[in-house]
Amino acid sequence: MKRHTIIDRTKCIGCGLCVSDCVSKCITLKDGKAEVNEPFCIGCGHCYALCPQNAVELTGWGEQIPEPSKEQVTPEALMGLMKRRRSTRQFQDKPVPQEVIDQLLEAARYCPTAENHQVVEYIILDEKKAEAEALAVEGMRKAKKVLEKLVPAMALQEIDDHFFFKNAPLVILVTNKAGMDDGLAASYIELMANSLGLGVLYSGFFRVVSKVNPKLKKLLKIRKGYHLTNCMVIGYPKVKYQRVPPRFPVQVRKR
Ligand SMILES: Cc1cc2nc3c(=O)[nH]c(=O)nc-3n(C[C@H](O)[C@H](O)[C@H](O)COP(=O)(O)O)c2cc1C
Repeated sequence: MKRHTIIDRTKCIGCGLCVSDCVSKCITLKDGKAEVNEPFCIGCGHCYALCPQNAVELTGWGEQIPEPSKEQVTPEALMGLMKRRRSTRQFQDKPVPQEVIDQLLEAARYCPTAENHQVVEYIILDEKKAEAEALAVEGMRKAKKVLEKLVPAMALQEIDDHFFFKNAPLVILVTNKAGMDDGLAASYIELMANSLGLGVLYSGFFRVVSKVNPKLKKLLKIRKGYHLTNCMVIGYPKVKYQRVPPRFPVQVRKR
């Protein structure tokens, strides 16, 4: 269904708030009322979100977003969550309920996207999960000797049958056409997962293998023009991290 941004002229008071906040500069005031130059509108909904008269209607989206919580997330709580997150490689044998998966995807849905494209696509590995991991393991075992030359630490790694997904119950593959929205989406998923008591591993090696293994590519059925950019391995952690390891000081330069 075609999406439209429509101004209700009977409600519009011509305050110009939408005009000044429109990224596309596609809203102007005509005869004291806002008017949208639709072909240039990216449908971001800033005008809808901002209008004091609720005079903007966004049609064709198929739903009204219920008012989300306005509960203040304190900077301390957010910083705590960010510092306490750890790459999780040991998971409990406990499924992630569908409603929790839905919360992760809902978080991803609200991540910022360039030009409001919203094209990132997620693949949840379900009945193909074991087969996908087996194919990746096979490929990785073949490539190990070459990889060891590039990454010497690989010599210590045993490519066991669960090298990529670590027996985690949930694997979400993030795919994207171009740009960096996928990384933002993955980060949203990761933070939401942590707030829900889940642990996450970015299985970077799976991404690498998926790029060079035609059988795996075929199995994953990644949409034409898209690339697998993040493989997120998710589940309830088996271990509890007690403290935060040190990090390098943040590298900042002024120019
Ligand atoms: C993009 C990305 C890919 C990664 N790929 C892997 C991987 O394939 N296997 C793995 O064990 N860890 C992987 N990691 C986890 C890093 O090794 C991890 O971030 C590092 O050990 C620091 O630990 P921390 O995330 O708990 O702070 C990846 C992390 C990122 C951000």
